[in-house]
Amino acid sequence: MVKVAVCGAAGGIGQPLSLLLKQSDLITHLALFDVVNAPGVAADLSHINTRSKVTGHGKESMDEALSGAHTVIIPAGVPRKPGMTRDDLFKINAGIIRDLAEGVAKNCPGAFVLVISNPVNSTVPIVCEVLKKHGVFNPKKVFGISTLDVVRSSRFASEINPAIDPKSTRVTVIGGHSGVTIVPILSQIPGQSFSKEQLEILTQRIQYGGDEVVKAKDGAGSATLSMAHAGARFATAVLEAAVTGKSGLVESTYVNLAADADATAAFRARTGLDYFAQDVEFGHEGVKRILPLPAISVFEQALLDEAIPELKVNIAKGTSFISDSA
Ligand code: NAI
Repeated sequence: MVKVAVCGAAGGIGQPLSLLLKQSDLITHLALFDVVNAPGVAADLSHINTRSKVTGHGKESMDEALSGAHTVIIPAGVPRKPGMTRDDLFKINAGIIRDLAEGVAKNCPGAFVLVISNPVNSTVPIVCEVLKKHGVFNPKKVFGISTLDVVRSSRFASEINPAIDPKSTRVTVIGGHSGVTIVPILSQIPGQSFSKEQLEILTQRIQYGGDEVVKAKDGAGSATLSMAHAGARFATAVLEAAVTGKSGLVESTYVNLAADADATAAFRARTGLDYFAQDVEFGHEGVKRILPLPAISVFEQALLDEAIPELKVNIAKGTSFISDSA
């Protein structure tokens, strides 16, 4: 039995993400939780003729939705409007994420937790701190989904250089998931030969790709469809490794560096951080190993130098949200 709970399932991301997850034969039960409209979305999806059972759970039924879940995916909370940064969402989303993490600790303490809600750089530390407080924290099982940065990187790179196949090219994106903390390692794309100017334009576009969507949607939210695609891709990789034992599955993701004791010291020495996005290989228990940092160019090192202080602030904001209220 593989029960996957989606929290925020009736939202702009939650609905298409749940639709994509309904296609997966790895999932036997899809439990959709939202404070509004979850039963409607669940009834609709439940008619699709794939293996999983679909159930909907409203405001009062979080425990039921999470109970015994193998994996919990969280796109709950408010998205950005024009002029907002991801950090502006903290005030509202931090409390929502804390409450959902409490629900995980109580109902499915061994679950994989995949966090989409922004600001990811801070919401992932919130989840980890709540799980620590309850004595059920396993750093191998908590992930910030930064896959949309990876998806954008290969797509945008292919627009500049059509020899790059956006589907088969996987760009490593390190750092975090907002603005300057997004550090795409474009120098490692096989066969790439971007000029300095192209690199600058491309990097800026990847770092602020979300703003293109926020602006185009003009007040109606941020990326939802591309995010659902990215979220389903990430969740599928985690599930495939955990459920079928498939090896060699790697994605960039924002994790607590304690997830891989062998890698921790090297990363801490290089970044001074407890959380970082980097290529991770998945295994039965979640993080199998955090890959070593790839070779990075002088340009990318400068980006990383700019990302680290911002990440430090974002991480402290998340951890102190829980420790200060203890
Ligand atoms: P949305 O507003 O369309 O949907 C959010 C859903 O969460 C709503 O259905 C709402 O009822 C639900 N919700 C609110 N409080 C809840 C609670 N306590 N428990 C369960 N459900 C609750 O927003 P959208 O566009 O789906 O975005 C969701 C989040 O994902 C935002 O924080 C956004 O910034 C983030 N996001 C993350 C990305 C990433 O790359 N990691 C990319 C794009 C958005």
